[in-house]
Amino acid sequence: MESYPQQPGAADASAADSDQPVAAPDDVEYFTQAQAGAWGEMLAAFARFVALPAGASVCDVGAGPGLLPRLFAAADSRLAVGCDRSWEMAARAAALAQAAGPTSALHWLMADARCLPFRSATFDGVVATNLLFLLPDPAVGLCEMCRVARPAGIVAFLNPTDAMSVANAAAFMDGRRIIGFARYSFVNYARLAEAHHRLSLSAWAELAAAAGLTGISMAARAGGMVGWVRGVRPA
Ligand SMILES: C[S@@+](CC[C@H](N)C(=O)[O-])C[C@H]1O[C@@H](n2cnc3c(N)ncnc32)[C@H](O)[C@@H]1O
Repeated sequence: MESYPQQPGAADASAADSDQPVAAPDDVEYFTQAQAGAWGEMLAAFARFVALPAGASVCDVGAGPGLLPRLFAAADSRLAVGCDRSWEMAARAAALAQAAGPTSALHWLMADARCLPFRSATFDGVVATNLLFLLPDPAVGLCEMCRVARPAGIVAFLNPTDAMSVANAAAFMDGRRIIGFARYSFVNYARLAEAHHRLSLSAWAELAAAAGLTGISMAARAGGMVGWVRGVRPA
């Protein structure tokens, strides 16, 4: 596996932050490493927040290397589909799932979030983590997620909020004396966020309401820099 910059200690951090290469949102090695570490814990907590019923079918849009579908399959989803517009990501997700032990519940495909290759009302749950904020228009991706969710199905997403910035991310990590890849990747996340959509948590929730979702709940993590939203497609 390619190795990513290991950050120096907090004292050198601000100089180093501006020097680090930015990992692209479709960097397979980078996201494989991230999902195997602290980011994987965030995704596991998000999966609990989504709270799919046992036996559900779920689609993760922009799944990257596929940790979230694997978590759903391990937690009794009968069908967990991961899709990503990057063939390399989908292939890595399939390889990691196979290495973890074959399960007929998991399926991977290459697909664009703005035009999902599923009939309307297909899944009991549709989720996307760190995908909507990257899209030119997050509302378009969210409407497509809602379209493929069944009536009474759950639609949930995770994105950076307007509190996310390189300065805040670096201070958050330094305050906890977190160094190495965990710090590098969180600051990198902030750099990506600064170049894309950063909405307040309530604005992300308003987007969910505008897409027709009801029963909306939300939660903030990582000092308010990461926002979770969950809603239900009306029956
Ligand atoms: C920031 S990564 C997040 C990966 C994973 N969801 C996570 O939270 O670890 C964004 C992922 O979305 C994918 N992606 C970006 N634009 C997309 C689109 N329009 N349709 C589908 N996938 C897309 C990228 O290839 C990448 O795997």
